[in-house]
Amino acid sequence: MEISAQQFREVQILMRDLCGLVLGDDKTYLVRARLEHIVAAHGGGSFTEYLSRIQQKTALSMRDELVEALTTGETSFFRDGHPFEEFRRRILPVLAQTIRERRASGYPLPQARIWSAGCSTGQEPYSLAMAVHEFVAGNRALDLRGENFPILATDVSRKSLAMARKGCFPNHMLDRGLSAEQRNRYFSQTENSGIASEELRRLIEFRQLNLIDRLNVVGQFEVIFCRNVLIYFDADIRQQICQQFYDLLTPGGLLIVGAAESLYRLDTRFVPEQVGPTSVYRKCSTGLSSL
Ligand SMILES: C[S@@+](CC[C@H](N)C(=O)[O-])C[C@H]1O[C@@H](n2cnc3c(N)ncnc32)[C@H](O)[C@@H]1O
Repeated sequence: MEISAQQFREVQILMRDLCGLVLGDDKTYLVRARLEHIVAAHGGGSFTEYLSRIQQKTALSMRDELVEALTTGETSFFRDGHPFEEFRRRILPVLAQTIRERRASGYPLPQARIWSAGCSTGQEPYSLAMAVHEFVAGNRALDLRGENFPILATDVSRKSLAMARKGCFPNHMLDRGLSAEQRNRYFSQTENSGIASEELRRLIEFRQLNLIDRLNVVGQFEVIFCRNVLIYFDADIRQQICQQFYDLLTPGGLLIVGAAESLYRLDTRFVPEQVGPTSVYRKCSTGLSSL
């Protein structure tokens, strides 16, 4: 399939407009490899025909398909280990304290909300739900329930979200990051896959959301996990998203980014902190202060 330099440029512009993804100039091979079968289906193999169709604003499903084809959904359970360890060990106890204070001041349903932004096929929010479940089942929070720590999980990709919602993971995905104990405890096993238990699923709400859109529809959070997502955007888009994250966090709330990511050179009011080996960014103020 032939793609001219001008056509590649048009794909770059389209992807940035649709989801903020910055496609480097060296990614022609990737565009060609990932779009070949799609172009065959929609444009009879002609990239020119495909481009003219997808550039019409009404080509919504074609646009979703393009975004899904060119974004990376790489993920695994408890990816990188340490952020989840810190979440379990140091962040959850502080969130529990916040919930207890809210309960004492008369909140009808006291909660600490957690957001997995860019959740892909769901391994991140399910990992968070397992951590929450273990925490409330342990003797440090017997007065609380999983529902006190609701998790919103969002992604731009409807296809990834459909899989995440089903909570059905093939064995090779379960093998990445779960202990045998977690697998037995939280996934009912079929021959080739495992299905997440209801006790995890009921803690998570999945929702389609494009991070380049206005984000204030999702409400306020105590903790935002946005890991291995910002890395695909340019500085302007990162800035715009992080500013919105800041506004959506409650005072003292935390933004946790991926191991290879930072807010370096962005103009935000976040205060960087090291929580163990994990880099986190705090909305400066009181609250969550004993971390
Ligand atoms: C590499 S995965 C990271 C998954 C998970 N957070 C982790 O660290 O394992 C990146 C995810 O970001 C999503 N994504 C990319 N651009 C997005 C956007 N504009 N809005 C929302 N999600 C986006 C992709 O669909 C993909 O699922």
